[in-house]
Amino acid sequence: MITSVRLPALAGLVGLAACGAPAPAQVDAAAGADAPRDAAAVPDAMPDAMPPLPPLPDPARIAGPLTLDAWGAQPFLTPAPIDEVLQGGFSIGREFFVAAWVAAPSAQRPNLDGLGPLFHATSCAACHPATGRPASLGANGAVAPGLLFRLAGPGGAPDPIFGGQLQPSGLAGAPAEATITYAYAEAAPPGITPASARPVFAFATEPSYGALAATTRALPRMSPHLAGMGLLERVPDAAIVAREDPLDADGDGISGRAARLPGGAIGRFGWKAVQPSLRGQTTAAFAADIGIASEDRADDCTAAQPACLALPNGGAPEIASADVRAVDTFQRYLGVPRARRDNADPVIARGYALFVAARCIACHAQTLTTGDAPDALAHVDFHPYTDLLLHDMGPGLADPLGEGDAAAAEWRTPPLWGLGLVAADPAARFLHDGRAATLADAIRWHGGEAEVSRAAFAALSPDDAAALLAFVASL
Ligand code: HEC
Ligand code: HEC
Repeated sequence: MITSVRLPALAGLVGLAACGAPAPAQVDAAAGADAPRDAAAVPDAMPDAMPPLPPLPDPARIAGPLTLDAWGAQPFLTPAPIDEVLQGGFSIGREFFVAAWVAAPSAQRPNLDGLGPLFHATSCAACHPATGRPASLGANGAVAPGLLFRLAGPGGAPDPIFGGQLQPSGLAGAPAEATITYAYAEAAPPGITPASARPVFAFATEPSYGALAATTRALPRMSPHLAGMGLLERVPDAAIVAREDPLDADGDGISGRAARLPGGAIGRFGWKAVQPSLRGQTTAAFAADIGIASEDRADDCTAAQPACLALPNGGAPEIASADVRAVDTFQRYLGVPRARRDNADPVIARGYALFVAARCIACHAQTLTTGDAPDALAHVDFHPYTDLLLHDMGPGLADPLGEGDAAAAEWRTPPLWGLGLVAADPAARFLHDGRAATLADAIRWHGGEAEVSRAAFAALSPDDAAALLAFVASL
């Protein structure tokens, strides 16, 4: 709920922008001592308005024991340097994550058969590649597999014919559900580049199935890069809830709240925080994205799709529970690339000060801590730049409908770590529907509770904007 947007940090930010010298960022204890605040150089407004800068994390420890110092060409598919990787299901899970599933029955690949009959991609890695994010919004209005579409009507009910997710691929005998294209129906808002306008999607459904129900809405979801899932999974529910500020009691215009799921679980994964656990996310992905049924979930064939129900399956279930656990083990112990910065670099120090002053850090929280765990992930401070809370991001980013506990305009703060490596791929896109072609445009689309941050970013000088972006790309 947004009331009026106050600008508590902006006075400080403008003060900072007016100050030509590098910001007095307290980078770490030692550097902070070297950079005492020069009272003459700092406008009066700043000391009061600026929150104190917490120490900037050590680039080599951003994900505790999961931090990678080297990753070659595979920043998001490299095991962490910990013993757990050698034990249990990591390498089995890797196979189930990376390998392409095939149609059942398959004598050659009996453990990997059962694809579809309707599906979106043939492997987890197709949508979560080693480089971070797959293609999503392509050239000439083509929509690539990196973007999928949940289907929901009033109350979140699935479409009666097409189910809970649109499947753009199918095996012989079960035609693909739709061809999806996009166009830019409206100009980008002022300041946002045309390539980052809001896409409007069109669905040409397969005639033998019919049309989407008039009340069905398609909710676009871009595949995020997977980093530090094992740490995010281990943040205690109580620690997420403790960050809530639903009534904006501290008056900063930012009022995050935890996603409360049926049964009392707190959601933390996905753009709308609809999944409380890796297990939930993994089994949902197997069912809806690849058409692989587990003990927890059937695939997404509906009663109106008899061919989908009738084609041979890959066993019941198609993936055994032990193998689902192995996939979770694999994701849990994947490494997180170290931060790519020198904390003593004045540009980074200034970008960090601006990130704090623009209140980015109020949602993109710098430090979370895990609770109990049976492995190296217990009681670890780590730096994902998310609070795992839902925030109202305003009408510009809103979906046509809510999902789970999240209202149409509410989104879970996405972690920012690794985003600079993702952005190194010129085809990479940002935000839940992939609309932003650059990190800068992703920030310019912020609204609602983040209006103060959007306005602060827009007010920066080109040098300061570049410093803030350099900091974000260094995480
Ligand atoms: C068709 C593309 C696609 C495939 C295939 C796919 N995913 Fe995803 N994945 C996504 C999208 C899109 C999201 C965001 C979902 C949401 O917002 O609800 C996501 C989210 C996730 C997340 C949560 C990330 C976060 O930051 O919260 C995890 C974990 C994950 N997927 C694991 C898997 C696993 C394991 C598989 C294979 C069983 C898989 N995915 C297959 C597209 C895909
Ligand atoms: C009120 C909470 C909030 C504040 C404040 C905020 N953000 Fe965000 N940020 C979000 C949410 C939620 C999203 C996802 C929105 C969506 O996808 O529709 C997001 C998305 C992003 C993304 C794209 C991430 C991706 O994975 O594609 C970047 C980059 C980003 N924010 C940077 C910033 C910066 C820099 C600032 C400060 C200038 C900032 N944010 C302030 C909540 C916030």
